[in-house]
Amino acid sequence: MKIKLTHNIKSDIKVEFLDEILLKKHKNKDLLKLAGFDASQDSVCFLHEKKVLACGIENNDSDNIRSVVSVAIKKLKSSNYESASFNINKKNIKAVIEGIVLGGYEFNNYKSDTKKSKLQNIYLICGNVSEFAQAFSEAMIVAEATCFTRDIVNTIPHDLNPPSFAKLAKKLAKENNLKCKILGEKELKKEKMNAMLSVGRASIHDSKLIHLTYKSANPKKVITLVGKGLTYDSGGLSLKPSTSMVTMKMDKAGGCAVLGIMKAISELKLDIEVHAFVGAVENMIGGDAYKPDDVLVSRSGKTIEIRNTDAEGRLVLADVLTYAQDNIKADYIFDFATLTGACMVALGQYTTGVMGHSSNLKHLISKSALNSGELTASLPFNKHLKKLLKSEIADISNISSKPYGGAITAGLFLDNFIKEKNKDRWLHFDIAGSAYTESAWDCNVYGGTGAGVRFMTNFLQTI
Ligand code: BES
Ligand code: ZN
Ligand code: ZN
Repeated sequence: MKIKLTHNIKSDIKVEFLDEILLKKHKNKDLLKLAGFDASQDSVCFLHEKKVLACGIENNDSDNIRSVVSVAIKKLKSSNYESASFNINKKNIKAVIEGIVLGGYEFNNYKSDTKKSKLQNIYLICGNVSEFAQAFSEAMIVAEATCFTRDIVNTIPHDLNPPSFAKLAKKLAKENNLKCKILGEKELKKEKMNAMLSVGRASIHDSKLIHLTYKSANPKKVITLVGKGLTYDSGGLSLKPSTSMVTMKMDKAGGCAVLGIMKAISELKLDIEVHAFVGAVENMIGGDAYKPDDVLVSRSGKTIEIRNTDAEGRLVLADVLTYAQDNIKADYIFDFATLTGACMVALGQYTTGVMGHSSNLKHLISKSALNSGELTASLPFNKHLKKLLKSEIADISNISSKPYGGAITAGLFLDNFIKEKNKDRWLHFDIAGSAYTESAWDCNVYGGTGAGVRFMTNFLQTI
């Protein structure tokens, strides 16, 4: 399916956005009424004989446009139309493209028999093509980078394990002119990344630390991105119940988001320097597995009492965050992780939890989230929750002693590995809920959503 920016071309069918007021004035209002169309948000209705697909919107808001286009594109793809057109303007172009690309996304790599859609061409009709060309290409880059992230998240753990994750990063680096350094277990041992190595010890796959670099000619800012890349999280010896284990291929979504962001910013050619670090590890069981009761010496030198091997992401991130801070002097440090089920309990499945010390930075991120159609909310640190990570035998425990506020205590655990000078430069994003879905919502379909790619790319475009 091709998406083309054009002025006036004939297509098989025209998509029209209608709210209640526009519906009342519409030349086919009687036909639409007869078909039961009331212009309510996300309702769609074909008028085949008029070559129109009517799309209901509450108002012209970008969120509403993106949402209804996501419904419309699925209808169009399952129809026999070969081309469709949308009228676009400066306000809605991004939302329309996101609806088409993200709402129309499919992942069929493991299906032997998929019906091919007849829909070949989507025309975005505008007055002056050159006026819209930049917005068009930017929106396409970000949407396609989001799909790239989704593809990796959706890949099964047999195919996407730490070594193949590293290979994929190398391929992206080659295609997009990035620097790529991979550290295997031998190097990780030398670097004293014992917390990360312990998590991956029972896996048949070697753990890998991926380091990608993008650098423009005269970068204005230096940014570090860190991603949790658990290619599978069985829980380890604190084994997950079987129903919770299903979907845990998505525990690499933070790392996948970081790769997607690198793809987007390198194609947008932003004037910055960005370092991406992904801790690619598989958390398994076995005779060699790390155990509850173990005490790990992290790269930072801090000792960690293991009380639950399913709280493994924070151990990987502790070492990767330390490694990143030891190697790169950054203006901003952001980590992305499917870190806690508690984040979903706190915020619901649709919202990314944002944690950190700088209210200003959190505010900037929430603005970017608003502009990019992702949902974020701040989860506040406090000194009482911080105390719950105390350990009787080590410097810190890997889980809280109380069952509430688990997303925040996980964030506070990471905070222990952020150097004093970086406290206000760092934010942690818990994407446990927002990174994966088992039912379609907004422009997301079953599987990985690509959470983080749109809001972080938007933020990096603004600095
Ligand atoms: N990967 C999980 C968190 C998760 C849960 C992500 C559900 C997406 C959906 C993480 O490693 C984990 O297991 N966390 C534990 C922490 C607990 C042991 C303190 C959790 O959330 O239960
Ligand atoms: Zn876990
Ligand atoms: Zn995990």
